Amino acid sequence: MSNNKDITLDYANMPSHVAVIMDGNGRWAKARGLDRSLGHAEGVNTVRKITEEASELGLKYLTLYTFSTENWNRPKEEVDALMDLIVMAIERETPDLIKNNVKLATIGDIDKLPAHTRATLEECMRRTAPGTGLTLVLALSYSSHSEITGAMRKIAEEVKNGNVSPEEITSELISSKLHTSSMPDPDLLIRTGGEKRISNFLLWQIAYTELYFTPTYWPDFSKENFREAIHHYQTRERRFGLTSDQLPAADSSLE
Ligand code: IPE
Ligand code: IPE
Ligand code: MG
Repeated sequence: MSNNKDITLDYANMPSHVAVIMDGNGRWAKARGLDRSLGHAEGVNTVRKITEEASELGLKYLTLYTFSTENWNRPKEEVDALMDLIVMAIERETPDLIKNNVKLATIGDIDKLPAHTRATLEECMRRTAPGTGLTLVLALSYSSHSEITGAMRKIAEEVKNGNVSPEEITSELISSKLHTSSMPDPDLLIRTGGEKRISNFLLWQIAYTELYFTPTYWPDFSKENFREAIHHYQTRERRFGLTSDQLPAADSSLE
């Protein structure tokens, strides 16, 4: 962990979309002899802090991997505790989201969530819909494979009905069928908790995303750590397959 409290960021080169795999809640709790659910509860405080910071930094999208399709296979008590925690956190935070001009959105199979969790999310989305600042995207019951499979089914249906020809299947068409169709791809992906893997998150969308892995457990991840990750992003040269010489001379990256 760094004590770099005064990291200077280049405001002309801010990522527009940051995605985060919030990992390490369970290990954070275990290291303290606590129940895993207390790690998740502490993780919610980090969500509040990082959302605040993302909003203050002027990011347009913050996508948080909150619950994966595979996480349904965890012990029932943990899944139930997480679903209740989502309700509690959303109810508690909605007034501040509204105050900070943040709009809530979700990706994933929201229909699979318990009715009260879904209802709470929908109510928050409705109330924060006028927000024009940060869009906070929660990935819930999300996996890339299931998202891409769904997109393929929609396209197959259109081909079958004669509305789309195979030649018309482009990467833009595929992107338009994903849950993220209205958002730009992430510029930066952060994974906390030490693992260097993607765990079925935004596989299509991270084709040219910068990746940042940190051993810090999610409950310990601070606003300074978040700024540090963005600072690291700003030191990278995004070449998108080109040579360095082909890039514009400016210090900003390609769109
Ligand atoms: C991430 O923390 C939160 C969710 C997956 C819901 P974990 O619960 O995976 O924490 P670790 O990886 O076991 O420490
Ligand atoms: C990824 O973390 C999912 C979320 C952060 C919601 P996991 O803890 O489920 O990932 P694995 O099992 O370590 O790959
Ligand atoms: Mg984990």
